[in-house]
Formats: sequence, C-alpha cells, structure tokens
Amino acid sequence: MKKYNVGIIGYGWAATAHIDAINATKQGKVGAIYSSRPLDAAELSAKHGGPIKVYNDLDAMLADPEIDVVDITSYPSQHRNQAVAAANAKKHIILEKPMANSLQEVREIVSAAKANGVKGCVCFECRFSGQFTVTKALIDQGLLGDLHYGEVDYYHGIGPWYGQFRWNTGKKDGGSALLTAGCHALDALLMVMGGEVDSVTSFSTKSKSEIFAPYEYDTSSCTLIRFKNGAVGKCAAIVDCLQPYYFHTHLVGSQGSLLDNKFHSNKLHTDKKAWSNLSMHMLDSGDVADHPYQTQFQAFFDALDEGRDMPLTSFPESLRSFEVIFAADRSAELGGVPVKVSDLS
Ligand SMILES: NC(=O)c1ccc[n+]([C@@H]2O[C@H](COP(=O)([O-])OP(=O)(O)OC[C@H]3O[C@@H](n4cnc5c(N)ncnc54)[C@H](O)[C@@H]3O)[C@@H](O)[C@H]2O)c1
Repeated sequence: MKKYNVGIIGYGWAATAHIDAINATKQGKVGAIYSSRPLDAAELSAKHGGPIKVYNDLDAMLADPEIDVVDITSYPSQHRNQAVAAANAKKHIILEKPMANSLQEVREIVSAAKANGVKGCVCFECRFSGQFTVTKALIDQGLLGDLHYGEVDYYHGIGPWYGQFRWNTGKKDGGSALLTAGCHALDALLMVMGGEVDSVTSFSTKSKSEIFAPYEYDTSSCTLIRFKNGAVGKCAAIVDCLQPYYFHTHLVGSQGSLLDNKFHSNKLHTDKKAWSNLSMHMLDSGDVADHPYQTQFQAFFDALDEGRDMPLTSFPESLRSFEVIFAADRSAELGGVPVKVSDLS
C-alpha cells in the first residue's frame, strides 16, 4: 500500500500528466478524481493502472478519510475556493499554477493551509528541471560569482492550436501574460537570483495578429526587477509569439556568465572568447508530458514524510513569487510606474 492517496480535482490536460507522475513516486498514488463532468471509474482505473473512485461532488471527495492529498488542476478562478476547502478538510495540497489570479486569494490559500497544519506544493516544476538544477548548482558552487544581472524570459505562443486557448483568453482565468504562463520564467529568475525583491517596473502590450485577438488582456509583458542587494533582473512573458517555445536564460556575475546551456567562468579558466557547453535537459517544450512533475512530487512526498515544507515550491516560497508577479501586473496597469513589493495591499 502506498502511503499517500491523492484525489485530483479536474480531469484535463495537466491532470493526466500529474496522475502518471504521482503514480511513479515511491509513496503516492491517485485513488480518486473529482470532475464536474460524468467520468467512468472503471475506464479511468484501467487507463491509469489502479482503482480510481470518481466523485461528482467535491465535498464528498474532501470528506473521504482515505484521501491524504488533494491535487488541484482546475481552472485558475476555481483554485482559491477549492484549495481553502481542501485545507479545511485537513488534506495536503498540490496546486497548479497560477495559485490564484489575485494576491488576496493566494494569501487566503496560504493562510488556510497554515491554520490547518497542511503542506502545499505549487506546480512551479521548472525549479526541478534538469536545466535549472544544473544552473543553480553552477551558481551555488560560485562559478559565476555574485550575480548582478539576470534575465529569464518565457516565449510560448498560446494560440488556438493549444488546448488552454478555450479558457485562458478570458481575463477571469487567464489573468495576464505572467499569470497564465510567464510566471514560470519569473519564478525561475527569482530562484537563481536569490535575493529579496525591492520593486518592479512592468510594461505590457499585445500582438496585432488576428490569431491572438480573442485575448481579453495584454499577452506580452516585460518586467524589470530591482533586488534589495542592488542586483537587477528582467523577465519577458510573451504568449502571443509565432516561434518555437523558448525559455531564455542569461545570468551575469562577477566570475562569469551563463546563456541557456553555455557558460564562461573565470574560476574554471575557460576561454572567454568562446562559450563552454553544458550538457543538460533543457526546458524547451510547453507539453506537460515533458515537465519534471515526478521529481517535484517525489520531493513533496519526501517532505510530507518528515513533516516539513518541501524545498523550492512550498506555499510560503511560491507566495513570494506571486507577490512579485502581482506587483508587476499592478505596475503594468499603471503604465510602468515602479511598485514596491512591500507596498502591495
Ligand atoms: N505547470 C504547468 O506547466 C501547467 C501546464 C498546463 C496547465 N497548467 C495549469 O493546470 C490547470 C489546468 O490546465 P489544463 O491545461 O489541464 O486545462 P484543461 O482545459 O485541460 O482542464 C482544465 C479544467 O477543465 C476541465 N475540463 C477539461 N476539458 C473539459 C471539457 N471538455 N468540458 C468541461 N470541463 C473540462 C478539467 O477537468 C479541468 O478541471 C490550470 O491552472 C493551468 O494553468 C499548468
């Protein structure tokens, strides 16, 4: 018997990747799915290789004493109410990004988890990717020295060819270029830069292409970040581009630089006139089947075993990223006026 029985909320694209990833961990298995649509339990159990109960009533799934963890993969506008209900039912929570589409709602989720003594895992799984594990190791070993500039950018054209287009074009569920997808890049930037954020300045716009016309909000934004230690960062969140998926990373420090999978380090005496190459699995796809969910969920279950917050993507850690994201969106709304994270209400 595996230790953590997981009940999934929502049975869409992300859910299918989560189920395989959870079942591949040492301690986790998916034992229930709640969906507003009628689903066939026998078919789901056969498809996912284990007994799965189907619930059409969320309260009934949350009342099931056999469920230890609730995994929320629903539309973003549903995240807050479902996460708070799961916390109140004393279930640990896996929560897809965005945690929610307002800072108030994100704070309510984090408070409810704390008050009920349950732990959270936010699907900022890029932090567990091969690319960012190696990048972070390079920084932690001092090979780039002290970072004073970093840019991590998200270029992913989310048009009608993409399943989420059905709902993420609306402001209610899509939110902004950062909330709907670019948050992965901003979160990765905050992880590698390390320091606390003082203020942000952001501008947003949108493509003139008819393809992206259904979007109710600006689908390109560029955010400049001032860190308290004086370092500067930049994050472009572009979901209305026509090009291959690109998660661009450029970090500059006192001992060298890293550009995606290339680097130079004075400490290693590499040749500054040519990049040295790093062999690592790159974040080069928006497909959830390629995302490092299994590594992330394994880290979550290991942390639950020890009764501690998980590394890198706990609720308190991810709240810090969302504070910066909401500050950036506020700045963009104000036409680029700098917003201090500490001034957010
Ligand atoms: N971390 C990541 O990289 C990543 C990747 C993809 C999605 N997500 C997030 O996961 C969440 C869900 O996104 P998704 O891509 O799985 O969306 P999806 O449209 O496939 O599913 C979203 C919700 O809609 C329901 N649904 C799906 N098809 C439906 C239909 N035909 N009729 C009625 N309901 C239907 C699903 O049960 C689910 O609750 C969002 O918060 C999204 O931002 C995150």
